[in-house]
Amino acid sequence: MKPIQVGLLGMGVVGSGTFNVLRRNQEEIKRRAGRGIEITMVADLDVARAQGLVGEGVQVVNEARAVIANPDIDIVIELIGGYGIAKALVLEAIAAGKHVVTANKALLAVHGTEIFAAASAKGVMVAFEAAVAGGIPIIKALREGLTANSIQWIAGIINGTTNFILSEMRDKGLDFDVVLKEAQRLGYAEADPTFDIEGVDAAHKATIMSAIAFGIPVQFDKAYVEGITKLGAADIKYAEQLGYRIKLLGITKRREADATKGTSAGIELRVHPSLVPTKRLIANVEGAMNAVMVQGDAVGTTLYYGKGAGSEPTASAVIADLVDITRLHTADAAQRVPHLAFQPNAMSDLPVLPMSEVVTSYYLRLRVADETGVLAKVTGILAEAGISIDAVLQREADEVGGEGSTQTDLIILTHDCVEARMNAALAQMQALPTVLAPITRIRKEELA
Ligand code: HSE
Repeated sequence: MKPIQVGLLGMGVVGSGTFNVLRRNQEEIKRRAGRGIEITMVADLDVARAQGLVGEGVQVVNEARAVIANPDIDIVIELIGGYGIAKALVLEAIAAGKHVVTANKALLAVHGTEIFAAASAKGVMVAFEAAVAGGIPIIKALREGLTANSIQWIAGIINGTTNFILSEMRDKGLDFDVVLKEAQRLGYAEADPTFDIEGVDAAHKATIMSAIAFGIPVQFDKAYVEGITKLGAADIKYAEQLGYRIKLLGITKRREADATKGTSAGIELRVHPSLVPTKRLIANVEGAMNAVMVQGDAVGTTLYYGKGAGSEPTASAVIADLVDITRLHTADAAQRVPHLAFQPNAMSDLPVLPMSEVVTSYYLRLRVADETGVLAKVTGILAEAGISIDAVLQREADEVGGEGSTQTDLIILTHDCVEARMNAALAQMQALPTVLAPITRIRKEELA
């Protein structure tokens, strides 16, 4: 059978990795796919450079639309990124009857509903394994391997840049700004690292996983997003003393209604720094690595670990999608794995809950005057709000502020409570004259 023909848009780090791995492993890939897979056309603004990478046998053009217009191309790989031209090109490729493989999490998290609907109407596939956690086959695991389960929650380290920064902060006791500069010098963090450090990249990925896990539409606009820019070395140190590590987690969780807490049923979707017990495997995922925990009702807890970025790890996911499409594109569309795991006419309308309705536990750090009765006032406010304390740590004033200091840090771990209740208690504590600085609040996930 004639090889399936692939057009590649964007010959960057992942594009060249895809080309190289496909060429290197072509025989094995063909034996698996049942048919050869060949990149026969590439679009890149720097034609000479791209031609140098792929050799003379591949047609290189500087106009992506020429790839989409080529009737011989069966699959278009979109590796341009972003919401702009990439969106137009993906929709045009679908309209032209091409299957699409993309690593573009931003595009799918924001415009996925429109893109999947267009693909279903046209009977083509949009595959996106590379969009979440790079080389880890988490989309495949959620959509197929765990298909028997009612998924209860997912918690993942799904941004390598921030995990590298947090690992360095902990190892070296340094503050965020210092480590970010080092990460940029080493090439881990982009010149503009905003999407990574503000949690946006992780939220794109969490949004996609949430949709697949719970059969809801992609709803990036409903995600709560908090990055790592305000984390201090002191909190990482205190967390360690209490048996926790701080990780930027992407979390999505199914929640039943709970009359005792006054909360309604829905889906939690949030990205923020989280304390995780050091004894959990995921707390020990260091450097730029990614890991995703999935809790299913039948399987229990599962954990997926690997490289979340990079040329060949991401290419591994892109090519897995090429193989899936090669195997399935002649199948009736109704028999293929649905884009978001659930059949499009069987999606759930469970709402994504506002952050005020999220239920979690907390780490609080209060800089307080080292005076009689301060602890009693603070714990009194928590008790009044019905928030149960799990642990309290108070450092000696000298240790915190130097010899003769009259200030100290009070660290409190709480049990679960609804966020709105914690917000109200925090406002009261902050108003105490003996609380001397803005209170630090970091959410805590036991992941048990
Ligand atoms: N910027 C991402 C990260 C990689 O740091 O993990 C691509 O998703």
